Amino acid sequence: MQVFDSIPPLKDHLHGIKSFGKRLGFVPTMGFLHEGHLSLIRASLERSDHTVVSIFVNPAQFAPHEDFADYPRDMGRDLGLLEREGVDTVFAPPGDALYPEAYATYVEVHELQNRLCGRSRPVFFRGVCTIVLKLLHIVSPHVAFFGQKDAQQAIIIRRMVKDLDLDVEIEVCPIVRDHNGLALSSRNSYFDLEQRRAALCLFRGLSRARTRIDAGERNAERLKQEIRAVIEAEPKARIDYVEIVDTSFLLPKSVVESGDLIAAAVYIDRIRLIDNIIV
Ligand code: PAJ
Repeated sequence: MQVFDSIPPLKDHLHGIKSFGKRLGFVPTMGFLHEGHLSLIRASLERSDHTVVSIFVNPAQFAPHEDFADYPRDMGRDLGLLEREGVDTVFAPPGDALYPEAYATYVEVHELQNRLCGRSRPVFFRGVCTIVLKLLHIVSPHVAFFGQKDAQQAIIIRRMVKDLDLDVEIEVCPIVRDHNGLALSSRNSYFDLEQRRAALCLFRGLSRARTRIDAGERNAERLKQEIRAVIEAEPKARIDYVEIVDTSFLLPKSVVESGDLIAAAVYIDRIRLIDNIIV
């Protein structure tokens, strides 16, 4: 496994690999890797000849009051995991390699970036799109892998790739959960035991909706009420949003159909977590 921390040698290296006709797979991450990340990496190892993983905690997707400084980091452990999985190339640059002094260019996917998570995190998707576009340019993969855990992020990235005519396939992999149903997230490391227990209300709420849909319920308002009631029964939880939307425009549905996205964000004390299911 080769590890790069600057752009020109990484580009040279990958250019060489592509010139042999190899199919490049790319998995962008912010590190502190867990089984969710590893599922994307395994998908890439399976479906491409050479897998590149980036580790970069992207300052542009954090608002000033958010947890950029506290975001969990453990490069030694991450590199060990990647080596064990058989990853070929790692890109782990310092902040100023990607945002040097006087950096001034940002990418926005209008409308979609303002919905769901965008309402409480107004700069988030601008930061995500900017870094993902930069990384796609630097790595220039044939295929890039993202998780359904961040459903809105995946939808926005697909939109950006289409709108900007990028030559990359986007693959979206299923959510990996722990044995209780909690969606894995690097931020779960913030939870103490009590908060981790409380956090289960989110998946419990979504599961209730699934049961109601299986029983024939199609009224989105009633389903959202059910989800809210489950979450609100947990004293530590505060709802940011519970929405049922289509996956093209992320606009609210009144009658739920197959393929719709049920997405929610909840604060457990001050820790924000998201989860979703597809109907
Ligand atoms: P990060 O949160 O590290 O996630 C990296 C990738 O792993 C994302 O595509 C995310 O959806 C996926 N992922 C996270 N948890 C998952 C889970 N439980 N199951 C399946 N996939 C999961 O998302 C980001 O980083 C950043 O926004 C990034 C795209 C790297 C841009 O900075």
